[in-house]
Formats: sequence, C-alpha cells, structure tokens
Amino acid sequence: MQRITEAHLDHYREHGYAIVPEFLSAAELAGALDEWRQVLPGWVEYCLDPSQPKPENWQRPGRPLNVSAFRFPFPGTHLNAITMHADLIEFASRAAGGSAMYCEQSHLSFKCKGHFADQDQAMHCDYGNHTLAYPPDDPAYWQTAYLLYYTEVTAAHAPTAVCSRRHYPERILWPAHYKREQRPAIYDNERKVIVPAGSLFIYSMRTFHRGTPFRADVGRLAQFVTYAPAAWKWLGIVGWSAQAIRPEFRAWIEAATPAERELLGFPPPGHSYWSEETLAGVGARYPNMDMTPYKSALQR
Ligand SMILES: [Fe+2]
Repeated sequence: MQRITEAHLDHYREHGYAIVPEFLSAAELAGALDEWRQVLPGWVEYCLDPSQPKPENWQRPGRPLNVSAFRFPFPGTHLNAITMHADLIEFASRAAGGSAMYCEQSHLSFKCKGHFADQDQAMHCDYGNHTLAYPPDDPAYWQTAYLLYYTEVTAAHAPTAVCSRRHYPERILWPAHYKREQRPAIYDNERKVIVPAGSLFIYSMRTFHRGTPFRADVGRLAQFVTYAPAAWKWLGIVGWSAQAIRPEFRAWIEAATPAERELLGFPPPGHSYWSEETLAGVGARYPNMDMTPYKSALQR
C-alpha cells in the first residue's frame, strides 16, 4: 500500500473508516475526468465551475437513460484502472485477513443541488444491499467500500458524514438505519468528509454514515468501488454477468490480465473449470483474449 498507510488501516479498524486526502495522482485525476466528460457530458464543466449552466437533463426524475454507462467497465482506461488500483485491493484484503478479493461494485455517482440524489439521508450501514446475510465483526467476511471524489468536497458540496464505531458498540448492528430522533448520538458525533478532488473515503458495511444535502448551487462527482472476500457468494451488490453482454465489457475482458478477470469472479488459470471445451468456448466468445495462461495451466 503506497498511498494508503498503516495509520489509515489502524484508523479504519478502530473507527470503521479512514480518509485519504488526494489519493489520486494529478494524472489519474485528469485522465478520469476526461472519461467522465465522455460518460456524462457537461457535468465536469459544471462541477468545476458552478457559474456555468447546469448540465442538460441534470434533474432527471428517475434514473438516467443508460444506467449501464455508469457501471464498470467504463470507456477508456483510467476509471477501470482506478477500480482495480492495487492499493484498494491490498487494503481491503488486509482488512479481511489477507484473503483473495472480489470486486463487488464499481459505479459512478453524480449529483448537484436539487438533483434527485440531493438528500439529507438518515444514518445507515450499507450492508442492506451488499449482502444477503449480515456482516459479522470478523475479518473473514469484511467488505470494504471506497468512495472516490473526483471533484472537491467542501461543506457546501453534500459531504458524506460518518460516525466512528465507538459510538455504536452494540454487538448486533440492527437496525442498520436510524433517524436523528431515534439515535441522536450517532448524528451528534458525525464527521463530514471535506476533502480536495482525488480524495478517498474508506468505510465498511458496519460503519454508520449518510449523505448530506447540498448547501449551494454546486455539484459533485464520485465513484463507489467495493471489495469483498471472494469466497462467499452472499456478498456483493452486483452480478457482473449482467454487464457482460455489453461490447465494452467484452473489450475489457479481452484486454485484462487473468488476475484482473479473477477480481470479477472469472475462473483463474488452473481452475477445474478449464477443459478443452471451455477453452474453445471462452476463446470463441472472446476472440481477442489470450488463452495461453489458461491453456498452459491445463497442460501441467
Ligand atoms: Fe450509504
């Protein structure tokens, strides 16, 4: 872990979250913003300079038209590379006792004042839609969520608020959702994640946090990336097969390394899945994929 330090890991274990200011390099941030411009025209310009007009269709009452465009994989290389950033994988793996990781989420989040996502959320844990079961206080089942901010977050930019786990020491975290009047101490002890562009907020499925409303006519661009231990099928917000029909997904699969594919649950070289039939079938589906690592592991 180069940019995430031991101190961040200690803080994460003790408080349930960590904040890494300016996690992204200037080049990573600039490259990612160029991809945002392709995915969501007008938003980068507006978020960087809110005196500009709001983007077209900024207040769509429901979901944007092409939801899959905001899900991994993205056009270009930066957002995909950030999704699989070695530091993110290593940190999540260490928090989970060193186990192999599964990328269970990578999607873009964007909002501005008055947008349907501009909400004064209640304090909650995210496990409701990240596991079918319950997240125990056991590293073997530890999921780590990342929220990467691509534009600055001031007190006016709807900062995420988070509360240290010290303030909810109960054994069972249920309910996973409290209104202010139900649990004022969690709100009274919240900390707002106010950070420059390129910063990273790390939290767990056992961490109470909430979205806060915008306090000015501004916008904010972010990305959710979540890693879970790979072994457990009840963890995860998405099934990647639902995305695999997209041409850009096929292109990503073809160009990825075996290790990157495995982060999405793809069978690794040497797995009993591989046979003459599956080598031929996967090779037919992904004609530009280098099948050599899978073939050579089979022949051993
Ligand atoms: Fe949340």
